[in-house]
Amino acid sequence: MSQEFAPPTSEWYYPSEEVKKRAIIGDYEALYKQAQGDPEAFWAEQAENLHWFERWTQVLDRSNAPFYKWFVGGKTNIAYNALDRHVKTWRRNKLALIWEGENGDKASYSYWRLWREVNKFANVLKSLGVKKGDRVTVYMGRIPELMIAMLACAKVGAVHSVVYGGFSENALADRIEDAQSRVLITTDGAWLRGNIIKLKDIVDEAVRRQPIVESVIVVKRTGHDVSMEQGRDYWYHDLMSLPIANPVCETTVMDAEDPLFILYTSGTTGKPKGILHTHGGYQVFISTTLQWVFDLQDDDRFWCAADPGWITGHSYIVYAPLILGATEILYEGAPNYPFPDRWWRIVAEYGVTVMYTAPTAIRSLMRFGDAWPNRHDLSTLRLLGSVGEPINPEAWRWFYRVIGKERCPIMDTWWQTETAGFMIAPMPSVPLKPGSGTRPFPGIEVDVVDEKGESCAPGVDGNLVIKTPWPGMLRTVYRDPDRYVRQYFSTYDDKGWYLTGDSARKDEDGYYWIIGRNDDVIKVSGYRLGTAEVESGLVSHPAVAEAAAIGVPDDVRGNVIYAYCMLRAGVEPSEALVDKLKEHIRHEIGPIAVPTKIEFVASLPKTRSGKIMRRVLKARVTGAPEGDLSTLEE
Ligand code: WT7
Repeated sequence: MSQEFAPPTSEWYYPSEEVKKRAIIGDYEALYKQAQGDPEAFWAEQAENLHWFERWTQVLDRSNAPFYKWFVGGKTNIAYNALDRHVKTWRRNKLALIWEGENGDKASYSYWRLWREVNKFANVLKSLGVKKGDRVTVYMGRIPELMIAMLACAKVGAVHSVVYGGFSENALADRIEDAQSRVLITTDGAWLRGNIIKLKDIVDEAVRRQPIVESVIVVKRTGHDVSMEQGRDYWYHDLMSLPIANPVCETTVMDAEDPLFILYTSGTTGKPKGILHTHGGYQVFISTTLQWVFDLQDDDRFWCAADPGWITGHSYIVYAPLILGATEILYEGAPNYPFPDRWWRIVAEYGVTVMYTAPTAIRSLMRFGDAWPNRHDLSTLRLLGSVGEPINPEAWRWFYRVIGKERCPIMDTWWQTETAGFMIAPMPSVPLKPGSGTRPFPGIEVDVVDEKGESCAPGVDGNLVIKTPWPGMLRTVYRDPDRYVRQYFSTYDDKGWYLTGDSARKDEDGYYWIIGRNDDVIKVSGYRLGTAEVESGLVSHPAVAEAAAIGVPDDVRGNVIYAYCMLRAGVEPSEALVDKLKEHIRHEIGPIAVPTKIEFVASLPKTRSGKIMRRVLKARVTGAPEGDLSTLEE
């Protein structure tokens, strides 16, 4: 569990008249009740706002639960809803995307321009033999071509698997293998804090390990020298200037339940899970949630500061804002480069109206003081958002006061890679309490329950569960349907509830408070990492016999990783070895997984059946009670 704090359950913040007047949804309560009365009718009504080549014949098919199907028989394509339909209206001339590179480069795309680029690249993909159902791995920094690549995959019916640009060659190779991708889209490099991250070098190493990749498309971003393998590697700009890159491309008609993407996320084993989402239900869920929670309208400039390589970026950068026809911002680099006001400068320069970010970023910018944001005109902002981990009230109040000038409500959105979109979140008209995501979104039924499945009384911690299916829910774990059932539906299998893996409590007002993960997942700077992943990374080094990793609370990053290693016989512990192991993890998984502290130990606390008791290690660091030790081996 991360971020232990006593939530101020009676500190209320009410929306202003101005906020209430603008709000699309004025009466949350009534809408929630209406949706609860007939969830299928409610979701069907939202689906009507989108384009379908053919209408569905059944809203929800429960016959093979928990493998639910939504909008059965419906024919659609999310790329059609994100682009094609807008270029038929006045929105073709509206800005879809405003991009800023860390080095000051700029670009902007109208819906028309973005649509044409996507069409061209879709034709390029087709010419490389990419067909409906093929998996394409995408590994890039935050540049427009990343969005173009994803949308082009969707357009031709290919399944994208985006691997976050902060992952290393081994993590990339594993994901290429699991998805069996023959085509990979990448860049030469990405700018970060004034340095070049050499992504193409990492790709070369990953492809050497997984030679299943036949074609690599490389966007030139940083322009440094990279090696290009003849017959395998192609420059994006070369392909896009060929006649095959025709700006007209028919959008592939997809079944509502055809896969749209796989996104790997950490779970309780060392092997990341490929979370699978589909075209139909996903588009309905993410566009409805974005529109109501952030009250997006045509005059907005929306900035989700996440990375498109995570679910936040998939849903709320690449797809939902475009489906709604919004104008959005994408920024390539670090929030504090070259100075800690980079983000505030962007807000002012582009007139951002809604800004959505993570507690860890807020806390790290808060440390630099109020003078940096105060130097900029932030008066265009009308709404703020937070996601990724519980936001501590201090950070909440700072965000509210210094960035939002006490005018902008903060939408604290609780959700997961698996849920596709917001599950517990306020809307602008809902009164807020700092640190609580308030109440479930209409059509979503959540509860906090004990081991037996009984609802917990207010104030009592329990498991957060979702009691009924929703259109954005994951459909399976790619190539591992058993894991899907085991992981999410086996704990309360008689009831059919989805287990979130989070512990939470409700308060007297029915507001939800997320406490943290209660499985072996750690949230580090909002990134989701499995203890088992870090452990197997450490054990893959020849010096390490056994390892245990735990999350330890940290003021800025939420949690950091501490690792305990038992060395192999004959290996001497040393500071140099600590550095080597950190470097090893950086290569095996990526910089985000590097433990803050590595300690060498003679033994690890284990149960008699041999399971590492991470709880005991954690208690020793945090000074918390060690709990029941009756199963501890001598
Ligand atoms: C886990 C899911 C959702 C997109 C980014 C993370 C934690 C997420 C909140 C929040 C408290 C939160 C939960 C959840 N989490 N949002 N607003 N308040 N905790 O997606 O990487 O799949 O992680 O993030 O622990 O289970 P993810």
